[in-house]
Amino acid sequence: MAVSSLNKIATSLAQADLLKNLSADLIHLLSTISTSVHFNKGQTVFKSGDKANKIFFIEKGTISIVENEIELLKLQTNDCFGEEFVLPDGVYQSSAVAADDVVLLQINRQDFFAVLSKHHESFNTILIVFIQKMYSQNQLKHTVFVQRLDRLNKELSKAKNDVEVRTIEMIKQEKLASLGLLSAGIAHELQNPLNFVNNFAELSGEIIGEIKSTNNTTEKDTLLNDVAGNIEKIQQHGMRASRIIKRIVSFSRGNTGDFELTNVNTICKEYVYLATAGIKSNIFGFECNIVESYNEQLPMINTNAQDLGRVILNIVNNAFYALNERNKNSPANENYHPELQIITKNVNKKIYLHIKDNAMGIPAELQAKIFEPFVTTKPAGEGTGLGLSICRDIIRNLKGDIMLISENGKGTEFIITLPVE
Ligand SMILES: Nc1ncnc2c1ncn2[C@@H]1O[C@H](COP(=O)(O)OP(=O)(O)OP(=O)(O)O)[C@@H](O)[C@H]1O
Ligand SMILES: [Mg+2]
Repeated sequence: MAVSSLNKIATSLAQADLLKNLSADLIHLLSTISTSVHFNKGQTVFKSGDKANKIFFIEKGTISIVENEIELLKLQTNDCFGEEFVLPDGVYQSSAVAADDVVLLQINRQDFFAVLSKHHESFNTILIVFIQKMYSQNQLKHTVFVQRLDRLNKELSKAKNDVEVRTIEMIKQEKLASLGLLSAGIAHELQNPLNFVNNFAELSGEIIGEIKSTNNTTEKDTLLNDVAGNIEKIQQHGMRASRIIKRIVSFSRGNTGDFELTNVNTICKEYVYLATAGIKSNIFGFECNIVESYNEQLPMINTNAQDLGRVILNIVNNAFYALNERNKNSPANENYHPELQIITKNVNKKIYLHIKDNAMGIPAELQAKIFEPFVTTKPAGEGTGLGLSICRDIIRNLKGDIMLISENGKGTEFIITLPVE
Protein backbone atom coordinates (compact mmCIF):
# COMPACT_ATOMS: atom_id res chain seq x y z
CA MET A 1 0.00 0.00 0.00
CA ALA A 2 1.23 3.52 -0.82
CA VAL A 3 2.60 5.54 2.11
CA SER A 4 0.10 8.36 1.57
CA SER A 5 -2.91 6.05 1.80
CA LEU A 6 -1.37 4.31 4.86
CA ASN A 7 -1.06 7.71 6.51
CA LYS A 8 -4.64 8.51 5.63
CA ILE A 9 -5.83 5.25 7.20
CA ALA A 10 -3.68 5.86 10.27
CA THR A 11 -5.23 9.32 10.67
CA SER A 12 -8.72 7.85 10.45
CA LEU A 13 -7.92 5.07 12.93
CA ALA A 14 -6.35 7.51 15.37
CA GLN A 15 -9.64 9.42 15.44
CA ALA A 16 -11.69 6.30 16.19
CA ASP A 17 -13.12 6.57 19.71
CA LEU A 18 -11.98 3.08 20.55
CA LEU A 19 -8.35 3.58 19.57
CA LYS A 20 -7.86 7.11 20.90
CA ASN A 21 -5.50 6.11 23.72
CA LEU A 22 -3.18 3.94 21.61
CA SER A 23 0.35 5.00 20.72
CA ALA A 24 1.12 6.35 17.26
CA ASP A 25 3.29 3.28 16.57
CA LEU A 26 0.49 0.90 17.31
CA ILE A 27 -1.95 2.93 15.22
CA HIS A 28 0.56 2.77 12.41
CA LEU A 29 0.80 -1.00 12.77
CA LEU A 30 -2.98 -1.34 12.73
CA SER A 31 -3.19 0.80 9.61
CA THR A 32 -0.97 -1.71 7.81
CA ILE A 33 -3.55 -4.45 8.39
CA SER A 34 -6.65 -2.31 7.69
CA THR A 35 -8.51 -2.37 4.41
CA SER A 36 -10.86 0.28 3.17
CA VAL A 37 -14.24 -1.12 2.04
CA HIS A 38 -17.34 0.58 0.53
CA PHE A 39 -20.96 -0.33 1.04
CA ASN A 40 -23.86 1.22 -0.83
CA LYS A 41 -26.94 2.44 0.99
CA GLY A 42 -29.06 -0.56 2.08
CA GLN A 43 -26.26 -3.14 1.76
CA THR A 44 -25.68 -5.49 4.69
CA VAL A 45 -22.19 -5.48 6.22
CA PHE A 46 -22.93 -8.52 8.34
CA LYS A 47 -25.96 -10.34 9.68
CA SER A 48 -26.73 -11.21 13.28
CA GLY A 49 -25.42 -14.72 13.92
CA ASP A 50 -22.60 -14.44 11.34
CA LYS A 51 -19.17 -15.51 12.59
CA ALA A 52 -17.53 -12.40 14.08
CA ASN A 53 -14.12 -12.31 12.39
CA LYS A 54 -13.73 -8.61 11.58
CA ILE A 55 -14.01 -5.29 13.31
CA PHE A 56 -15.08 -2.14 11.43
CA PHE A 57 -14.34 1.56 11.89
CA ILE A 58 -16.58 4.06 10.15
CA GLU A 59 -14.61 6.51 8.07
CA LYS A 60 -17.64 8.05 6.38
CA GLY A 61 -21.39 7.55 6.43
CA THR A 62 -23.92 5.96 8.78
CA ILE A 63 -24.44 2.36 9.85
CA SER A 64 -27.69 1.00 11.29
CA ILE A 65 -27.44 -1.66 13.97
CA VAL A 66 -30.54 -3.80 13.63
CA GLU A 67 -31.95 -6.59 15.78
CA ASN A 68 -35.19 -8.46 15.01
CA GLU A 69 -35.94 -5.93 12.27
CA ILE A 70 -35.78 -3.10 14.81
CA GLU A 71 -33.11 -0.44 14.42
CA LEU A 72 -31.32 -0.18 17.74
CA LEU A 73 -28.59 2.33 16.97
CA LYS A 74 -27.22 4.57 14.31
CA LEU A 75 -23.40 4.77 14.20
CA GLN A 76 -21.45 7.59 12.59
CA THR A 77 -17.91 8.45 11.53
CA ASN A 78 -15.25 7.37 14.13
CA ASP A 79 -17.60 4.82 15.70
CA CYS A 80 -16.66 1.16 15.50
CA PHE A 81 -18.81 -1.98 15.36
CA GLY A 82 -18.32 -5.71 15.28
CA GLU A 83 -16.41 -5.69 18.60
CA GLU A 84 -17.72 -9.25 19.26
CA PHE A 85 -14.75 -10.29 17.12
CA VAL A 86 -12.65 -10.06 20.26
CA LEU A 87 -14.37 -13.16 21.67
CA PRO A 88 -13.12 -16.61 20.71
CA ASP A 89 -15.70 -18.12 18.29
CA GLY A 90 -17.79 -14.94 18.66
CA VAL A 91 -20.81 -14.23 16.51
CA TYR A 92 -22.29 -10.83 15.72
CA GLN A 93 -25.22 -10.07 18.03
CA SER A 94 -26.94 -7.70 15.63
CA SER A 95 -26.93 -6.97 11.92
CA ALA A 96 -25.09 -3.97 10.48
CA VAL A 97 -26.64 -2.26 7.45
CA ALA A 98 -25.38 0.76 5.52
CA ALA A 99 -27.89 3.58 6.19
CA ASP A 100 -26.26 5.57 3.38
CA ASP A 101 -23.18 5.09 1.22
CA VAL A 102 -20.41 4.27 3.67
CA VAL A 103 -16.63 3.88 3.78
CA LEU A 104 -15.32 1.51 6.45
CA LEU A 105 -11.94 0.36 7.64
CA GLN A 106 -11.97 -3.33 8.39
CA ILE A 107 -9.40 -5.40 10.32
CA ASN A 108 -9.33 -9.20 10.39
CA ARG A 109 -9.33 -10.87 13.81
CA GLN A 110 -6.21 -12.94 13.05
CA ASP A 111 -4.15 -9.92 11.89
CA PHE A 112 -5.41 -7.83 14.77
CA PHE A 113 -4.26 -10.33 17.40
CA ALA A 114 -0.99 -10.95 15.59
CA VAL A 115 -0.16 -7.24 15.88
CA LEU A 116 -1.39 -6.82 19.44
CA SER A 117 0.35 -9.93 20.80
CA LYS A 118 3.61 -8.05 20.43
CA HIS A 119 2.30 -5.12 22.52
CA HIS A 120 1.22 -6.62 25.84
CA GLU A 121 0.29 -3.39 27.56
CA SER A 122 -1.79 -2.09 24.69
CA PHE A 123 -3.29 -5.54 24.33
CA ASN A 124 -4.74 -5.35 27.86
CA THR A 125 -5.92 -1.76 27.41
CA ILE A 126 -7.62 -2.51 24.15
CA LEU A 127 -9.33 -5.66 25.49
CA ILE A 128 -10.72 -3.70 28.43
CA VAL A 129 -11.97 -0.98 26.07
CA PHE A 130 -13.66 -3.61 23.91
CA ILE A 131 -15.31 -5.27 26.86
CA GLN A 132 -16.48 -1.89 28.17
CA LYS A 133 -17.84 -1.02 24.76
CA MET A 134 -19.66 -4.32 24.47
CA TYR A 135 -21.09 -3.82 27.93
CA SER A 136 -22.23 -0.23 27.29
CA GLN A 137 -23.64 -1.19 23.88
CA ASN A 138 -25.60 -3.99 25.50
CA GLN A 139 -26.88 -1.54 28.09
CA LEU A 140 -27.84 0.85 25.33
CA LYS A 141 -29.57 -1.90 23.37
CA HIS A 142 -31.41 -2.87 26.51
CA THR A 143 -32.58 0.72 27.07
CA VAL A 144 -33.59 1.07 23.40
CA PHE A 145 -35.50 -2.22 23.65
CA VAL A 146 -37.30 -1.14 26.80
CA GLN A 147 -38.17 2.22 25.23
CA ARG A 148 -39.43 0.49 22.11
CA LEU A 149 -41.42 -2.01 24.11
CA ASP A 150 -42.93 0.82 26.08
CA ARG A 151 -43.86 2.70 22.89
CA LEU A 152 -45.28 -0.49 21.31
CA ASN A 153 -47.28 -1.10 24.46
CA LYS A 154 -48.73 2.41 24.32
CA GLU A 155 -49.52 2.01 20.59
CA LEU A 156 -51.14 -1.35 21.31
CA SER A 157 -53.35 -0.07 24.08
CA LYS A 158 -54.33 2.91 21.88
CA ALA A 159 -55.16 0.51 19.03
CA LYS A 160 -57.14 -1.64 21.47
CA ASN A 161 -59.06 1.43 22.57
CA ASP A 162 -59.70 2.45 18.94
CA VAL A 163 -60.98 -1.05 18.13
CA GLU A 164 -63.28 -0.96 21.15
CA VAL A 165 -64.65 2.45 20.20
CA ARG A 166 -65.14 1.35 16.57
CA THR A 167 -66.82 -1.92 17.62
CA ILE A 168 -69.29 0.00 19.77
CA GLU A 169 -69.98 2.32 16.82
CA MET A 170 -70.48 -0.64 14.48
CA ILE A 171 -72.84 -2.33 16.91
CA LYS A 172 -74.80 0.92 17.13
CA GLN A 173 -74.93 1.21 13.32
CA GLU A 174 -75.89 -2.44 12.93
CA LYS A 175 -78.63 -1.99 15.53
CA LEU A 176 -79.91 1.07 13.68
CA ALA A 177 -79.82 -0.81 10.37
CA SER A 178 -81.67 -3.82 11.76
CA LEU A 179 -84.13 -1.50 13.46
CA GLY A 180 -84.78 0.06 10.04
CA LEU A 181 -85.09 -3.40 8.53
CA LEU A 182 -87.37 -4.48 11.32
CA SER A 183 -89.63 -1.46 10.97
CA ALA A 184 -89.89 -2.05 7.22
CA GLY A 185 -90.67 -5.70 8.00
CA ILE A 186 -93.30 -4.70 10.54
CA ALA A 187 -94.94 -2.39 8.00
CA HIS A 188 -94.89 -5.19 5.45
CA GLU A 189 -96.38 -7.72 7.85
CA LEU A 190 -99.05 -5.42 9.21
CA GLN A 191 -100.16 -4.22 5.79
CA ASN A 192 -101.81 -7.57 5.02
CA PRO A 193 -104.17 -7.89 8.03
CA LEU A 194 -104.88 -4.16 7.85
CA ASN A 195 -105.91 -4.57 4.20
CA PHE A 196 -108.38 -7.25 5.28
CA VAL A 197 -109.69 -5.11 8.14
CA ASN A 198 -110.16 -2.10 5.83
CA ASN A 199 -111.78 -4.11 3.05
CA PHE A 200 -114.18 -6.02 5.29
CA ALA A 201 -115.08 -2.80 7.13
CA GLU A 202 -115.77 -1.04 3.82
CA LEU A 203 -117.78 -4.01 2.58
CA SER A 204 -119.79 -4.03 5.83
CA GLY A 205 -120.53 -0.32 5.40
CA GLU A 206 -121.95 -1.03 1.97
CA ILE A 207 -124.00 -3.96 3.28
CA ILE A 208 -125.41 -1.80 6.09
CA GLY A 209 -126.49 0.71 3.41
CA GLU A 210 -128.26 -2.13 1.60
CA ILE A 211 -129.92 -3.27 4.87
CA LYS A 212 -131.26 0.24 5.42
CA SER A 213 -132.68 0.44 1.94
CA THR A 214 -134.52 -2.90 1.92
CA ASN A 215 -137.81 -3.85 3.52
CA ASN A 216 -137.50 -7.52 2.66
CA THR A 217 -136.86 -9.28 5.99
CA THR A 218 -135.27 -12.39 4.44
CA GLU A 219 -132.84 -10.24 2.49
CA LYS A 220 -132.18 -8.19 5.65
CA ASP A 221 -131.36 -11.41 7.58
CA THR A 222 -128.96 -12.58 4.88
CA LEU A 223 -127.27 -9.19 4.80
CA LEU A 224 -127.05 -9.09 8.60
CA ASN A 225 -125.43 -12.53 8.51
CA ASP A 226 -122.91 -11.21 5.98
CA VAL A 227 -122.12 -8.29 8.28
CA ALA A 228 -121.71 -10.67 11.22
CA GLY A 229 -119.37 -12.80 9.11
CA ASN A 230 -117.39 -9.70 8.15
CA ILE A 231 -117.14 -8.55 11.76
CA GLU A 232 -115.78 -11.98 12.64
CA LYS A 233 -113.17 -11.62 9.88
CA ILE A 234 -112.28 -8.11 11.02
CA GLN A 235 -111.78 -9.52 14.49
CA GLN A 236 -109.67 -12.40 13.14
CA HIS A 237 -107.39 -10.10 11.18
CA GLY A 238 -107.22 -7.56 14.01
CA MET A 239 -106.08 -10.39 16.24
CA ARG A 240 -103.59 -11.44 13.61
CA ALA A 241 -102.17 -7.91 13.62
CA SER A 242 -101.86 -8.15 17.41
CA ARG A 243 -100.13 -11.53 17.10
CA ILE A 244 -97.70 -10.03 14.58
CA ILE A 245 -96.88 -7.17 16.94
CA LYS A 246 -96.49 -9.63 19.81
CA ARG A 247 -94.20 -11.78 17.71
CA ILE A 248 -92.11 -8.79 16.60
CA VAL A 249 -91.78 -7.61 20.19
CA SER A 250 -90.69 -11.07 21.26
CA PHE A 251 -88.37 -11.28 18.23
CA SER A 252 -86.72 -7.97 19.14
CA ARG A 253 -86.29 -9.31 22.66
CA GLY A 254 -84.50 -12.33 21.19
CA ASN A 255 -87.31 -14.89 21.69
CA THR A 256 -87.45 -17.71 19.16
CA GLY A 257 -91.23 -17.85 18.75
CA ASP A 258 -93.71 -20.59 19.52
CA PHE A 259 -93.17 -24.04 18.10
CA GLU A 260 -96.26 -26.22 18.14
CA LEU A 261 -97.45 -29.47 16.63
CA THR A 262 -98.68 -28.32 13.23
CA ASN A 263 -100.54 -29.69 10.28
CA VAL A 264 -98.84 -28.04 7.29
CA ASN A 265 -101.88 -28.68 5.06
CA THR A 266 -104.12 -26.69 7.43
CA ILE A 267 -101.69 -23.76 7.46
CA CYS A 268 -101.50 -23.84 3.65
CA LYS A 269 -105.30 -23.90 3.25
CA GLU A 270 -105.74 -21.07 5.77
CA TYR A 271 -103.15 -18.74 4.26
CA VAL A 272 -103.95 -19.48 0.62
CA TYR A 273 -107.55 -18.63 1.48
CA LEU A 274 -106.47 -15.40 3.19
CA ALA A 275 -104.25 -14.40 0.29
CA THR A 276 -106.98 -15.15 -2.25
CA ALA A 277 -109.52 -13.11 -0.31
CA GLY A 278 -106.95 -10.35 -0.08
CA ILE A 279 -106.14 -10.21 -3.79
CA LYS A 280 -109.80 -10.40 -4.78
CA SER A 281 -110.68 -7.47 -2.58
CA ASN A 282 -107.68 -5.52 -3.88
CA ILE A 283 -107.86 -6.20 -7.60
CA PHE A 284 -111.33 -5.98 -9.02
CA GLY A 285 -112.17 -8.86 -11.35
CA PHE A 286 -109.03 -10.86 -10.59
CA GLU A 287 -109.58 -14.49 -11.53
CA CYS A 288 -107.14 -17.29 -10.95
CA ASN A 289 -107.46 -21.04 -11.07
CA ILE A 290 -106.18 -22.36 -7.75
CA VAL A 291 -105.18 -26.00 -7.76
CA GLU A 292 -104.62 -27.39 -4.27
CA SER A 293 -103.23 -30.90 -3.95
CA TYR A 294 -102.57 -31.86 -0.35
CA ASN A 295 -101.12 -35.15 0.79
CA GLU A 296 -103.57 -35.99 3.55
CA GLN A 297 -101.07 -38.47 5.05
CA LEU A 298 -98.71 -35.65 5.95
CA PRO A 299 -97.34 -36.14 9.48
CA MET A 300 -97.79 -33.34 12.03
CA ILE A 301 -94.54 -31.49 12.61
CA ASN A 302 -93.23 -29.40 15.44
CA THR A 303 -92.82 -25.99 13.86
CA ASN A 304 -93.67 -22.31 14.16
CA ALA A 305 -97.05 -22.35 12.40
CA GLN A 306 -97.45 -18.60 12.37
CA ASP A 307 -94.07 -18.02 10.76
CA LEU A 308 -94.75 -20.73 8.20
CA GLY A 309 -98.03 -18.94 7.45
CA ARG A 310 -96.11 -15.70 6.80
CA VAL A 311 -93.91 -17.50 4.28
CA ILE A 312 -96.88 -18.97 2.41
CA LEU A 313 -98.63 -15.61 2.40
CA ASN A 314 -95.54 -13.82 1.04
CA ILE A 315 -94.97 -16.34 -1.72
CA VAL A 316 -98.63 -16.61 -2.73
CA ASN A 317 -98.99 -12.82 -2.73
CA ASN A 318 -95.93 -12.54 -4.99
CA ALA A 319 -97.43 -15.16 -7.30
CA PHE A 320 -100.79 -13.37 -7.45
CA TYR A 321 -99.07 -10.09 -8.22
CA ALA A 322 -97.08 -11.73 -11.05
CA LEU A 323 -100.14 -13.59 -12.37
CA ASN A 324 -102.13 -10.36 -12.46
CA GLU A 325 -99.29 -8.53 -14.24
CA ARG A 326 -99.03 -11.22 -16.90
CA ASN A 327 -102.81 -11.35 -17.27
CA LYS A 328 -103.02 -7.59 -17.77
CA ASN A 329 -100.32 -7.61 -20.43
CA SER A 330 -101.35 -10.79 -22.17
CA PRO A 331 -102.58 -10.30 -25.75
CA ALA A 332 -106.19 -11.39 -26.29
CA ASN A 333 -105.19 -14.17 -28.69
CA GLU A 334 -102.83 -15.78 -26.17
CA ASN A 335 -105.75 -17.34 -24.28
CA TYR A 336 -103.84 -17.03 -21.02
CA HIS A 337 -105.34 -18.40 -17.78
CA PRO A 338 -103.60 -17.52 -14.51
CA GLU A 339 -103.05 -20.60 -12.38
CA LEU A 340 -101.58 -21.25 -8.95
CA GLN A 341 -100.73 -24.72 -7.68
CA ILE A 342 -100.18 -25.62 -4.04
CA ILE A 343 -98.84 -29.12 -3.49
CA THR A 344 -97.69 -30.89 -0.33
CA LYS A 345 -95.71 -34.14 -0.28
CA ASN A 346 -93.95 -36.32 2.24
CA VAL A 347 -90.65 -37.68 0.92
CA ASN A 348 -87.72 -39.13 2.87
CA LYS A 349 -88.70 -37.71 6.27
CA LYS A 350 -89.22 -34.29 4.76
CA ILE A 351 -92.32 -32.30 4.00
CA TYR A 352 -92.27 -30.68 0.58
CA LEU A 353 -94.42 -27.69 -0.16
CA HIS A 354 -94.58 -26.50 -3.78
CA ILE A 355 -96.07 -23.14 -4.73
CA LYS A 356 -96.12 -22.81 -8.47
CA ASP A 357 -97.50 -20.18 -10.83
CA ASN A 358 -97.67 -19.77 -14.58
CA ALA A 359 -96.84 -16.05 -14.63
CA MET A 360 -93.88 -14.52 -16.48
CA GLY A 361 -91.09 -16.21 -14.49
CA ILE A 362 -88.00 -14.56 -13.05
CA PRO A 363 -84.97 -13.63 -15.19
CA ALA A 364 -81.79 -15.55 -14.26
CA GLU A 365 -79.87 -12.46 -13.08
CA LEU A 366 -82.70 -11.59 -10.66
CA GLN A 367 -82.96 -15.19 -9.42
CA ALA A 368 -79.38 -15.02 -8.16
CA LYS A 369 -80.23 -12.26 -5.66
CA ILE A 370 -83.92 -12.79 -5.10
CA PHE A 371 -83.56 -13.78 -1.43
CA GLU A 372 -81.51 -10.69 -0.60
CA PRO A 373 -83.30 -7.86 1.22
CA PHE A 374 -84.56 -4.85 -0.77
CA VAL A 375 -84.54 -6.64 -4.13
CA THR A 376 -87.76 -5.69 -5.86
CA THR A 377 -89.04 -5.00 -9.36
CA LYS A 378 -92.26 -3.50 -8.07
CA PRO A 379 -92.93 0.23 -8.46
CA ALA A 380 -91.94 2.43 -5.51
CA GLY A 381 -94.48 2.12 -2.73
CA GLU A 382 -95.76 -1.27 -3.91
CA GLY A 383 -92.98 -3.52 -2.66
CA THR A 384 -90.24 -3.30 -0.06
CA GLY A 385 -88.28 -6.22 -1.50
CA LEU A 386 -88.18 -7.76 1.96
CA GLY A 387 -90.77 -10.52 1.48
CA LEU A 388 -88.48 -13.29 0.21
CA SER A 389 -85.57 -12.38 2.49
CA ILE A 390 -87.92 -12.71 5.47
CA CYS A 391 -89.14 -16.06 4.02
CA ARG A 392 -85.57 -17.33 3.75
CA ASP A 393 -84.75 -16.30 7.34
CA ILE A 394 -87.91 -17.94 8.67
CA ILE A 395 -87.36 -21.21 6.79
CA ARG A 396 -83.74 -21.33 8.01
CA ASN A 397 -85.06 -20.84 11.54
CA LEU A 398 -87.41 -23.76 11.01
CA LYS A 399 -84.39 -25.86 9.94
CA GLY A 400 -85.79 -26.17 6.45
CA ASP A 401 -84.85 -25.10 2.94
CA ILE A 402 -86.31 -22.83 0.32
CA MET A 403 -85.52 -23.22 -3.37
CA LEU A 404 -86.57 -21.53 -6.53
CA ILE A 405 -87.14 -22.92 -10.00
CA SER A 406 -88.14 -20.38 -12.57
CA GLU A 407 -88.12 -20.14 -16.31
CA ASN A 408 -88.41 -16.75 -17.90
CA GLY A 409 -91.74 -16.49 -19.70
CA LYS A 410 -93.13 -19.74 -18.24
CA GLY A 411 -93.57 -19.37 -14.48
CA THR A 412 -92.07 -19.74 -11.05
CA GLU A 413 -92.01 -22.48 -8.47
CA PHE A 414 -90.92 -22.14 -4.84
CA ILE A 415 -90.15 -25.41 -3.06
CA ILE A 416 -90.03 -25.41 0.71
CA THR A 417 -88.80 -28.43 2.64
CA LEU A 418 -89.31 -28.92 6.36
CA PRO A 419 -87.86 -31.65 8.57
CA VAL A 420 -90.37 -34.19 9.93
CA GLU A 421 -88.48 -34.94 13.19
N1 LIG B 1 -93.85 -15.63 -8.42
C1 LIG B 1 -93.09 -14.65 -8.91
N2 LIG B 1 -93.10 -14.37 -10.24
C2 LIG B 1 -92.35 -13.39 -10.75
N3 LIG B 1 -91.51 -12.61 -10.02
C3 LIG B 1 -91.46 -12.84 -8.71
C4 LIG B 1 -92.24 -13.86 -8.08
N4 LIG B 1 -91.95 -13.86 -6.76
C5 LIG B 1 -91.05 -12.88 -6.56
N5 LIG B 1 -90.76 -12.26 -7.72
C6 LIG B 1 -89.80 -11.17 -7.92
O1 LIG B 1 -88.99 -11.11 -6.77
C7 LIG B 1 -88.96 -9.78 -6.27
C8 LIG B 1 -88.73 -9.83 -4.77
O2 LIG B 1 -89.81 -10.39 -4.09
P1 LIG B 1 -90.02 -10.04 -2.55
O3 LIG B 1 -91.22 -10.76 -2.09
O4 LIG B 1 -88.76 -10.28 -1.85
O5 LIG B 1 -90.25 -8.48 -2.57
P2 LIG B 1 -91.47 -7.69 -3.23
O6 LIG B 1 -92.61 -8.61 -3.46
O7 LIG B 1 -90.95 -6.92 -4.39
O8 LIG B 1 -91.82 -6.67 -2.07
P3 LIG B 1 -92.75 -7.00 -0.82
O9 LIG B 1 -92.63 -8.45 -0.55
O10 LIG B 1 -92.22 -6.15 0.25
O11 LIG B 1 -94.13 -6.60 -1.23
C9 LIG B 1 -90.28 -9.20 -6.71
O12 LIG B 1 -90.23 -7.79 -6.78
C10 LIG B 1 -90.44 -9.83 -8.09
O13 LIG B 1 -89.69 -9.14 -9.06
MG1 LIG C 1 -93.25 -10.03 -1.86
